[in-house]
Amino acid sequence: MAKTIHVGTLISGGGTNLQAIIDACSRGSIDAKICFTGSDTPGIKGLERAQRSGIDTFVVDYTKIIRSCKHGIEDADLPPDFDLGEILEKQQLVTPDTPAGTLGGASSDGSMERIAFFLKSRAMAEKKLLDHILAHDIDLLVLAGFMRVLTPYFIDRINTVSGRYKIMNIHPALLPSFPGTDGYGDTFRYGCKVGGCTVHFVDYGEDTGPIIGQRAFEIEAGDTLEDVKRKGLEREWELYPACIQAFADAR
Ligand code: GRF
Repeated sequence: MAKTIHVGTLISGGGTNLQAIIDACSRGSIDAKICFTGSDTPGIKGLERAQRSGIDTFVVDYTKIIRSCKHGIEDADLPPDFDLGEILEKQQLVTPDTPAGTLGGASSDGSMERIAFFLKSRAMAEKKLLDHILAHDIDLLVLAGFMRVLTPYFIDRINTVSGRYKIMNIHPALLPSFPGTDGYGDTFRYGCKVGGCTVHFVDYGEDTGPIIGQRAFEIEAGDTLEDVKRKGLEREWELYPACIQAFADAR
């Protein structure tokens, strides 16, 4: 039996993965305790699931923050420890070739000005996430359907020990195939005969960090996109708790 690890969770939607982790914790099948659930969107079902289980919740409304940034970002609006040069050097999320409208709806056309806007506005939201998260002493931060990329500004403030990853994500495809926001859709439209999901650590790229675990399933003739999503989610609910337990065992 491993020591119980303290886990923070971030979500953006229905929270079925969160529910699977909550259930695994309460059954005692993983050595983990969820300390909080944060969201980038108010009013989502996943927040209700957390509250029903007595988990502290908070919301950092990304849409509102990014909208307010469109009027211009002053230096005084930025976190005091934000260093654009350093973040630009480290980040692997966006390049001058990044097409407009990628990165989860960011209005990036790849120009330096747009890249700077993207990184600054995200760091402003991330600072608010950190204000909540760093009030807890967590071993692991679990992204359970959190649909925002995280910049090095945020990642470096969670991963404070060099070489030790502390942020996990679940992705709806067999990485490194089909990174991005619609893994099951991309797998299905490509005509793959096998789909799957991946749990990985988060690094400075989008869906590029070290892989912890994967589950695959067959896509049969006649399967619809809905079938693919259902098969995938069922695997996710097993895989994520198993990967959290692997992290606890490694401690
Ligand atoms: C999952 O398919 C996950 O792989 C992806 O977003 C979805 C979240 O679903 N990142 P839920 O909110 O856990 O139900």
